[in-house]
Amino acid sequence: ALVTTTEMFKKAYEGKYAIGAFNINNMEIIQGIVNACKVKNSAVILQVSKGAMKYAGPRYLKAMVDAAVEETGLDIALHLDHGPDLATVKEAIDAGFTSVMIDGSHLEFEENVKITKEVVEYAHSKGVVVEAELGILAGVEDDVHAEEHVYTDPDQAVEFVERTGVDSLAIAIGTSHGAFKFAGEPDLKFHILEEIQKKMPGFPIVLHGASAVSQDHIAMCNEFGGNIKGAQGIPTDMLRKASAMAVCKINMDTDIRLAMTAAIRKAFADKPEAFDPRGYLGAARNEIQSLVEKKIEEVLGSENSM
Ligand code: G3H
Ligand code: 13P
Ligand code: ZN
Ligand code: NA
Repeated sequence: ALVTTTEMFKKAYEGKYAIGAFNINNMEIIQGIVNACKVKNSAVILQVSKGAMKYAGPRYLKAMVDAAVEETGLDIALHLDHGPDLATVKEAIDAGFTSVMIDGSHLEFEENVKITKEVVEYAHSKGVVVEAELGILAGVEDDVHAEEHVYTDPDQAVEFVERTGVDSLAIAIGTSHGAFKFAGEPDLKFHILEEIQKKMPGFPIVLHGASAVSQDHIAMCNEFGGNIKGAQGIPTDMLRKASAMAVCKINMDTDIRLAMTAAIRKAFADKPEAFDPRGYLGAARNEIQSLVEKKIEEVLGSENSM
């Protein structure tokens, strides 16, 4: 069914695993993800950024997600990713989303509390759950560019959750969005996650910027005409460690983009005479399915979570 994340997170927390939250922008991405979840019998979160709403239209995406629920019988949550304001949140809720994020992470603490409280009040009145964010991920987030990580302060996290009534919290422990996460050695601040978990036992934590950035996909892109240099993601063992802790939602978009692009580049190179979009988009869908099956096994641990 189309569900909120409440039960998913409760089971994930207790079972020491995490639910995958994958960004969707079109039909092939949706089908690749849910076909994998069907094979693995895994619950899933399909999330839509403001840019995705603009690209595909929230109603198109909602209708395709409804079709995915009907076809697979899976528990799927439809989530607004990085909602910038109450207007966008309302648009998503009106379209039938079951979960929304309000991202006030670049605001002053009190302003973040204020906007998050407003969103929680509105969303809860509609039966929709809310994710907020505290701390700043380095890199580009919401058109804002941060040079440095601002790690989440555990005491502030407790105060923030108490005062806002938010259902889950995204934290900054060293991950970042996109394909260039570390110039040197990967480093996540697990002691911050541990402290937050100790102070708020049972409360679901969200990890953004959690793509692993497969070097195989980078190589495949570059072999077939691409030019991507210096890309590095979060090592799989770190992600698995996080998913066994309080982290109940792991966000991945970059990995989907790379899988899709690698497959399409290869399809073009393999058959330069072909021009049926079902050829290369079908290859992209298959590549996304394999990627998500691997994520469920190696990163999330959400197999048989249905
Ligand atoms: O966190 C951002 C996601 O990767 C979505 O990216 O805003 O380009 O759709 P987007
Ligand atoms: P990646 O760029 O690491 O895939 O992160 C995606 C994300 O956090 C979406 O909100
Ligand atoms: Zn994010
Ligand atoms: Na977990």
